[in-house]
Amino acid sequence: MEIALLGGTGDIGEGLALRWAHDTEHTVLVGSRKPEKAASKADAYQTQLSERGVEHDLEGYGNEEAAARAEVVVVSVPPQYTSDTVEAVAPALDEGDVLVSPAVQMARDADGFHYDPPESGTVAETIAAAAPAGVPVVGAFQNLAAGALSNLDNELTADVVVTGDDDEAKGIVRSLAEDIEGIRALDGGPLANTGVVESITPLLINLAMNNEGMHDLTVQFQ
Ligand SMILES: NC(=O)c1ccc[n+]([C@@H]2O[C@H](COP(=O)([O-])OP(=O)(O)OC[C@H]3O[C@@H](n4cnc5c(N)ncnc54)[C@H](OP(=O)(O)O)[C@@H]3O)[C@@H](O)[C@H]2O)c1
Repeated sequence: MEIALLGGTGDIGEGLALRWAHDTEHTVLVGSRKPEKAASKADAYQTQLSERGVEHDLEGYGNEEAAARAEVVVVSVPPQYTSDTVEAVAPALDEGDVLVSPAVQMARDADGFHYDPPESGTVAETIAAAAPAGVPVVGAFQNLAAGALSNLDNELTADVVVTGDDDEAKGIVRSLAEDIEGIRALDGGPLANTGVVESITPLLINLAMNNEGMHDLTVQFQ
C-alpha cells in the first residue's frame, strides 16, 4: 500500500515513516511543503535504515504529490495547520483514499498540558470538514510518542485506538497500524469518539514531565 505522511519531515512523521519502512513492504512517501526538504528527509530516513541493514526505498515529495500517489494519507502536521494542509491536497485525493488524523490540540500553562479541542470538537472532525466528499477520515496514533517510534532500538508495545465512521477505512488503518511490530489496533468506535482518544495525550505528557523515567510513554489497555 502507498502511505503518504504530510509533514512527514516532523517528529511523528519520522517515527511512522521509519517504522513502516523498517517493518513492512509498504511504499512510504514523505511529504513536505517543500519537495527538496521531503527528499532530503526521505534520504536521511533511508540512510538510518541502511545502517541497520534494512534496505527500503523511501520517497520524498511535496505534500500534494505525496497525497496524489498514496491511498492512505496521514496528516502529520501541527493541529492548527491540518485544515489548510488538507484543503491544499484535496484536489490530489481520489474517492476512497483515506485521511488519517494523529493530531491533538493542546494548551500549556504553569500546571502542565491540557486538552484544548478546536471548535469542531476534535482535530479529526476539523480534518473531516476539510476533506473532499468520498474521502473518509480515521483517527489513529494520537497516543504514540514520536520518540517511542523513531528510536528503533525501542521494542514497541502499544495500543492504537482507531476511530472513524467508515468501517472499510478503519479496517485499512487498523491493519496498517498492526503491520508495525508491537502495535495492537483497537476499534474506538465512530469519529465522534475521537475526543476521548485525543484527550489522553496531554495526560501522557504530564506523566512524563512529572515522573522519572516515563518519557515516550505508550498506552496499553488490559
Ligand atoms: N510529536 C509527537 O510525539 C506526536 C505524537 C502523536 C501525535 N502527534 C500529532 O502529530 C502532528 C504532528 O506532530 P509533530 O510533533 O510531528 O509536529 P512537528 O514536528 O512540529 O511538525 C510536523 C511537520 O508539520 C509541517 N508544518 C509545520 N508548520 C506548518 C504549517 N504552517 N503548515 C503546514 N505544515 C506545517 C512541517 O513540515 P514541512 O515544513 O516539511 O512542511 C513539520 O515538519 C500534531 O498534530 C501532533 O498533535 C505528535
